[in-house]
Amino acid sequence: MTMVRGDINEAGQAATKAHEQARDHLMPHFTKGAAWRNNLGVINRAHGCYVYDTDNNEYLDGLAGLFCTNMGHGRADFAAIAAEQMEQLAFYPTWGWANPPAAEAAAMIADFAPGDLSEVFFVNSGSEAVESALKFARNYHLSRGDSARHKVISREWSYHGTTLGGLSVTGVPKFKEPFAPMLWEGTRHVRNTFGDTADELASAKAIEDMILAEGPETVMAVFAEPVQNGRGGLVPPEGYWPELRRICDKYGVLLVADEVICAFGRFGHWFASERFGVVPDIITFAKGVTSAYQPLGGMIARQGLVESIWESPAGAYMHGSTFGGHPVATAVAVANMKAMRDEGVLQHVLDNEAGFRARLDGLMTTSPVVSDVRGLGYFYAMELVADSETGTELSDTQRAGLQGGVLNQFCRDAGLLIRPDDRGATMLVVSPPLVADSDVLDDIAGRLAIILDNTKEWIARNN
Ligand SMILES: Cc1ncc(COP(=O)(O)O)c(C=O)c1O
Repeated sequence: MTMVRGDINEAGQAATKAHEQARDHLMPHFTKGAAWRNNLGVINRAHGCYVYDTDNNEYLDGLAGLFCTNMGHGRADFAAIAAEQMEQLAFYPTWGWANPPAAEAAAMIADFAPGDLSEVFFVNSGSEAVESALKFARNYHLSRGDSARHKVISREWSYHGTTLGGLSVTGVPKFKEPFAPMLWEGTRHVRNTFGDTADELASAKAIEDMILAEGPETVMAVFAEPVQNGRGGLVPPEGYWPELRRICDKYGVLLVADEVICAFGRFGHWFASERFGVVPDIITFAKGVTSAYQPLGGMIARQGLVESIWESPAGAYMHGSTFGGHPVATAVAVANMKAMRDEGVLQHVLDNEAGFRARLDGLMTTSPVVSDVRGLGYFYAMELVADSETGTELSDTQRAGLQGGVLNQFCRDAGLLIRPDDRGATMLVVSPPLVADSDVLDDIAGRLAIILDNTKEWIARNN
C-alpha cells in the first residue's frame, strides 16, 4: 500500500499521541519508571513472528510475547471467530450455566490432557490458574476430612504468578520480599533441578525430605513446572517426574504441574507432562491456549478429585470469577487448538528443536560470553559470563550493568525481543512463536550474534 503525505502525517500524529498517553497515564508491568519515561516504545502491529513499533522499526518476537503468541501474529481467522462469537453470545457467566465455546474448549483440552485429567476450570490468567489449583487442592483434602493439609512445596527460583497465593508459592526472592508480611506462611521451597543427575535425583529427594520434615499429614501439594523458567531452562533429569509422582502418591500429596508456559506446544506436545512421562493430579495452563488472541487460563483436574468435592457435604468447589469460561476467549481457544492440530505445529516443533538448539550451541562455541545453553523444544536460556574460556564470572558491577538495562538495549538495537533474565544468573531467554521456521530461526541466531558481540565488547570496556 502506498502512503500519501496526508496519511503519513496522520499516522505520525497518532503515534505521538499514543506515546504521550502511555507515558502520562499507562502504568507498565515490572518496568522501572525511569525506563518507561525515557525509553518507552509503542508496538502497534504484528505479523507472523515479527512486531512493529510506531516508528516502523521491525522486531523479531523472540519470546512469543511472553511465551504465548504460539501460532504467531495476525491470524484473521481467529479474529473472525471472535467477532462471530461476540455477535452470537458475547457473554454469560459460567455460574450454573454453560455456553457452547466453553464446553467445546473444555472437551478438547480434556481430550489432549494426559491420563484421566478430564475436568477443566477456566479463569483469565496464569496467576489465577495457580490460585485456582491451590484452592482446589485445599477443597479436595477437606472433602476427605484431611483438614490439616494446607502446605505447599515448590522449588527455588520458580515462578508461579503474582497474586498473593501464587506469589507465596513462587521462589524468586526479589518478587516476594516487598510483600513478605502479606504472604501465606504455608509454603516451603526446596532445591530445583539445576545440576541434578539422573542417578541421584537430589532435587526429588529434597521434596520427599521436606514432606517428611513438615509431616505428610500437613502437606497439600507439590507445585513444579515441567521445565523451569526461573534459573534458566531447567530440563529435569530422566526419571525426575515419575519420581515426584511416586513420592506424592506415597504421602497422599497432590502433584501439580504448572504448565502456564509449557503447555500447548512449547515442547512439541499439548502438555509437557506427556513428554516427561507423568500424569499429574492437576495441570495449570494459560498463555498458549489462545496463542494470546484472548486472555484465558485454567486448570485441569483428575475426575476423581472433582467427584470427591462434589460428593462431600460442601458439594461445590468454592471458587470462581466473573469472566471464567468467557465465550469469546474460549471460542478463540477452540480455533487456536484446531489450528495447532490441523497445521501440525507440535510436530513442527519436534522437527525443528534440534536445529534450533544447534544454532544456539554454535553461538556458544563462537562467543566467549556464553557459558551454557539449556532448554528443549522452542524454549532456551543462554547463561552469560565474562569469559567462558578462562572461567571468569561477571563481576558484580558488570552483572548490575548488564541486567540494569544494557542487555535490554542491545536486544532492542538488534531488533530481537527476548528476555534478559537475572533469576539466579545473567541469562538471555529465547522462546519464539512455535510457527517459527528455519528462516526465522536463522534470523534469531543472526540477531543473537550481534547482541553477544556487543555484550563482549561492553564487558571488555567495563572490566
Ligand atoms: C509457570 C508460570 N505460572 C504462572 C504464571 C503467571 O501467569 P500470568 O502472568 O498470566 O498471571 C506464569 C507467567 O509467566 C508462569 O510462567
